[in-house]
Amino acid sequence: MDFFATAAPSPLSLALYFSSHHHRPQPHGNSRRSCCCRFCLWLTFILLILIILAVVAGGILYVIYRPHRPSFTVSSLQISQFNVTSSYHLNSRFNFTVTARNPNKKIEFDFNPVSVSIDSKGSDVGDGSIPAFVMPKKNTTKLKAVVATSGRSVDDNSDLKNKKSLPLSIHLDTKIKVKIGSLKTKRVPVRVICNGIRFTAPVGKTVATASTSGVKCKADLSIKIWKWTV
Ligand SMILES: *[C@@H]1O[C@H](CO)[C@@H](O)[C@H](O)[C@H]1NC(C)=O
Ligand SMILES: *[C@@H]1O[C@H](CO)[C@@H](O)[C@H](O)[C@H]1NC(C)=O
Ligand SMILES: *[C@@H]1O[C@H](CO)[C@@H](O)[C@H](O)[C@H]1NC(C)=O
Repeated sequence: MDFFATAAPSPLSLALYFSSHHHRPQPHGNSRRSCCCRFCLWLTFILLILIILAVVAGGILYVIYRPHRPSFTVSSLQISQFNVTSSYHLNSRFNFTVTARNPNKKIEFDFNPVSVSIDSKGSDVGDGSIPAFVMPKKNTTKLKAVVATSGRSVDDNSDLKNKKSLPLSIHLDTKIKVKIGSLKTKRVPVRVICNGIRFTAPVGKTVATASTSGVKCKADLSIKIWKWTV
């Protein structure tokens, strides 16, 4: 059950899942069979009640807390260096600001350090990191990152050397803990990918600013209700 799914989970599919996993073959023998039958019936009944309670509890949690994923936007991106040497080594330096938003009124996110990489047409053109941070309810946090590489070998027929304008995507990888009241989830992986950036390499000592108006970030995160720890 994906807690962040837009549709509420279906009780029927859950019940089917459980019943198919808890079905046991019945042993032979007449008197034992009727006794066993009654036992099985009770067991099924109790299981059904438990499942219904779990689904109701999940539904109530869902309705009360209305969980939303954290969202991200790239607010600015500057490139102070991007050159490929004649021996096909890339030197790059980017710095950018990501705005993270926690839209939830009752849910808190606790982020591990974030590893950041910038990618152009499948080539990694820089790496960096953002320190761990906490996002309380309804919080907006601006995160600054410096992403760079020095002397990374690039393919000699790579587009990176000649292209004046290159597409970029920013990848953020981390793990988060979700806090809902006194409930805390285990750390779950989150991956954010921001696409739609184009940039032109700076010339000499100038600093280029990439347009970030068309940038879209997508956060991938799914939390299973039964992984929760209280
Ligand atoms: C690339 O950047 C390095 C470091 O800033 C610099 O020494 C080198 O001259 C640059 N090369 C080109 C071709 O711009
Ligand atoms: C990049 O770093 C420079 C120098 O530290 C700073 O002035 C600039 O505002 C930074 N840009 C972004 C987008 O963070
Ligand atoms: C967001 O949370 C951080 C860390 O607790 C805090 O420093 C910052 O001021 C908060 N921002 C807003 C807009 O509430």
